[in-house]
Amino acid sequence: MKDTLWYKNAIFYEISVRAFKDSNGDGHGDLQGLIEKLDYLQYLGVDCLWLMPIYPSPLRDDGYDIADYYNIDPIYGTLDDFRALLHQAHRRGIRIIMDLVLNHTSDQHPWFQAARADCHSPYRDYYVWSDTDQRYRQARIIFLDTETSNWTWDEQAGQYYWHRFYSSQPDLNFDNPHVQEEMLNVARFWLEMGIDGFRVDAVPYLFERENTSCENLPETHAYLKRLRKLVDEHYLDCLLLCEANQWPEEVRLYFGEGDEFHMGFHFPLMPRLFMALKKERFEDVRHILESTPPIPEICQWCTFLRNHDELTLEMVSEEERRWMWEQYAPDPCMKLNLGIRRRLAPLLDNDRRKIELAHSLLFTLPGAPIIYYGDEIGMGDNLDLPDRNGLRTPMQWEDSPTAGFTYGVPFAPFPRAPYAPQQVNVAAQIGDPHSLLNVLRNMIAVRKSHPAFGGHGMVWIETGNPAVAAYLRLHPEETLLVFNNLSGRPQAVRVPAEHGGRWIDLLSGQVLPLVSELLLPSHGYLWLKRVSEL
Ligand code: GLC
Repeated sequence: MKDTLWYKNAIFYEISVRAFKDSNGDGHGDLQGLIEKLDYLQYLGVDCLWLMPIYPSPLRDDGYDIADYYNIDPIYGTLDDFRALLHQAHRRGIRIIMDLVLNHTSDQHPWFQAARADCHSPYRDYYVWSDTDQRYRQARIIFLDTETSNWTWDEQAGQYYWHRFYSSQPDLNFDNPHVQEEMLNVARFWLEMGIDGFRVDAVPYLFERENTSCENLPETHAYLKRLRKLVDEHYLDCLLLCEANQWPEEVRLYFGEGDEFHMGFHFPLMPRLFMALKKERFEDVRHILESTPPIPEICQWCTFLRNHDELTLEMVSEEERRWMWEQYAPDPCMKLNLGIRRRLAPLLDNDRRKIELAHSLLFTLPGAPIIYYGDEIGMGDNLDLPDRNGLRTPMQWEDSPTAGFTYGVPFAPFPRAPYAPQQVNVAAQIGDPHSLLNVLRNMIAVRKSHPAFGGHGMVWIETGNPAVAAYLRLHPEETLLVFNNLSGRPQAVRVPAEHGGRWIDLLSGQVLPLVSELLLPSHGYLWLKRVSEL
């Protein structure tokens, strides 16, 4: 029988194919390179890879500007390479989801080229045109640092076109039934090839309506339900993961009644994990989780610490955003749009205890976690590179000058010390049982073998200490008890009488008798299961 709920307790891993491993020496990562590294991903224990876009693209937005939905960009390889990747990943029990960019194309896409060249072309209406730039004024600008309007004048077309992201990414017109069909065909093409689903990019913005924010409109949900129907009818164990950077009430709508997305990123939780680590108090995390509406049983949140974009601060108040910038972006070059363009290790002061603790939270709170490539070894960033490119530098496999990433010249420079390949690389960590890589690998293995982590059941425990996040993860088969000390100092917590007794520390395998008080070391964490339940 197919396990259609596989995603609920899966470990996801986000990859920039360009930055992962180059097999042919052109300095850009490629699909053959990724195939070479599947054994590593299997060793780490990840279940599903999300590949950032690998379609032909002029790369004005690192591939999120697609010029052909039915092919692979030659820098990454061919469709045959992609089929080989799927085969090799599936052999190892690893699934692959791709980005499905519905909202917009590249301005180099033949549809847009035809649309701008001829107002009678059937493709003209594939995009959103206007004689004025005054329509849909309530829609916010997302790429605030680069764009001044969501409309751009096109000389050739003699009209303005609509775009929610860069002006090189014109929005498709989802009011056109042909566009709706085209994009379902795109999804069908890749699902037929055997991929395991999509991370669906920028879903809130598909439709535009006057006097609205042009986000999360009912028409958008209706269309996404059609996409889901396609998956359910023909590709039952495939996954749709929603990228909607919205408040929990809004994202909740993208799960529908279990008939829209299977999963959605929990954007509001992410900055609050960083707030909690810095304030050494868990209240913001508790509050956002308590104000997150329940989701259907078959659905799951996807939780993350970092990804390929800036650490977005859209889902916090203005005051919180200012505070986050003060705390985490001391140098103005670290700010980008409404966020912070830094990787995990530099954000957490390259402090091993904090990095482990952040993962302990990520792996034990509700949701299925996703790791951004390189964060498992504590890679840094290179802020000399513009925009978000500083977080997308080549994966550091060894301590050689090209880090084992390529035998040519890497497409981007590595981070400097203390994050250079000489200091941070897979080869050094793989052989060291105490390395970050191996500690996280152990956490992954433990997490995956406990269904309670993949369920929705969670109860906070009152320990009388605001620095210690303590909770039960509940499941019909087991009860787990987790403690996370956010403080840089040892903390004592009260253990409620009903939780006293013998527990096993799942990460070390040691038995731990819990009495009325527990002392946790600085940034310490414990994942426990009752001995009587073993
Ligand atoms: C999503 C992607 C981001 C991209 C944008 C436009 O937010 O994560 O990288 O720039 O969509 O496609």
